Amino acid sequence: MEFKAIGVLGAGTMGAGIAQVCAEAGFKVVLVDIAPEFVDKAVKGMNKNWSKAVEKGKMAADQAEKLNALVTTSTDNAAFKDCDIVIEAIVENIDIKKKVFKQLGEICGPDAILASNTSALSITEIAAATNRPNKVVGMHFFNPVPVMKLIEVIPGAETTDDVVEAVMDLSRKIGKEPVRAKESPGFIVNRILVPYINEAAIVYQEGIASAEEIDKAMKLGANMPMGPLALCDLVGIDVVLAICEYYWREFGDSKYRPSLAFRQKVRAGHLGMKTGKGFYDYTKK
Ligand code: NAI
Repeated sequence: MEFKAIGVLGAGTMGAGIAQVCAEAGFKVVLVDIAPEFVDKAVKGMNKNWSKAVEKGKMAADQAEKLNALVTTSTDNAAFKDCDIVIEAIVENIDIKKKVFKQLGEICGPDAILASNTSALSITEIAAATNRPNKVVGMHFFNPVPVMKLIEVIPGAETTDDVVEAVMDLSRKIGKEPVRAKESPGFIVNRILVPYINEAAIVYQEGIASAEEIDKAMKLGANMPMGPLALCDLVGIDVVLAICEYYWREFGDSKYRPSLAFRQKVRAGHLGMKTGKGFYDYTKK
């Protein structure tokens, strides 16, 4: 399977990063969102990153221009017509994703692969809504995409091995390291990371140590680059709470019961960095 043109649907945090790394690897990129301001913002962001690389002497000025020329934008999914793969990074809502994937199947050529960057939704369920469940796959990037090396590749129930292999190969071509994971809530990274953050919040809630002490302990004692509660503030306490609740529901195992500290902070509107307060107070800095 050869990839020449890559479609990216959704030009938000993840889509913009995915489009950037695909262009940097030399692929033609078609970036689509629902309104021109979203794609414009993403393209501006990419160009800003490339200009910075030029300023730092890490990229030639003409290279930045070449990369910019590789990216075309649209607000119409019909622009994906000639893409070999479309990577979807729109809102995390199963009904919207199913509707969009059905439409992508009708637009794209019969050999095109349809990939989803979903963090948690079922690839099998998304695939079942299309005319090609054997060619639908999870391609889970990490934030920020240009920095984070990992991609989790998740086959659905009917995804063929050659499609999985092709997506793993593409992942390497765009400078990432793929790992294959079975479809299961949280795949690998978030399945392990979220209960770890939850346990830190339980330790905090039990008054065993302050947020600063917990984070310091995990950084100096376990060599974590960032403490779990600072990480929780960065991701968003509401997001972490929702994931814990989802695991609890899906697995029916009380080991995923969310810390009361999450609920209390969410009720207070303290969602982390995005609201100025979470486990830490960012308004004072
Ligand atoms: P975001 O909110 O930053 O961007 C989503 C974009 O999709 C928006 O620009 C929105 O206008 C667009 N959009 C929504 N519905 C659309 C439609 N029907 N057609 C075209 N565009 C549409 O969201 P973000 O954070 O980039 O997340 C996107 C996906 O990636 C979600 O499935 C999320 O779970 C997943 N993800 C997010 C990570 C993160 O750290 N933010 C990490 C890994 C995966």
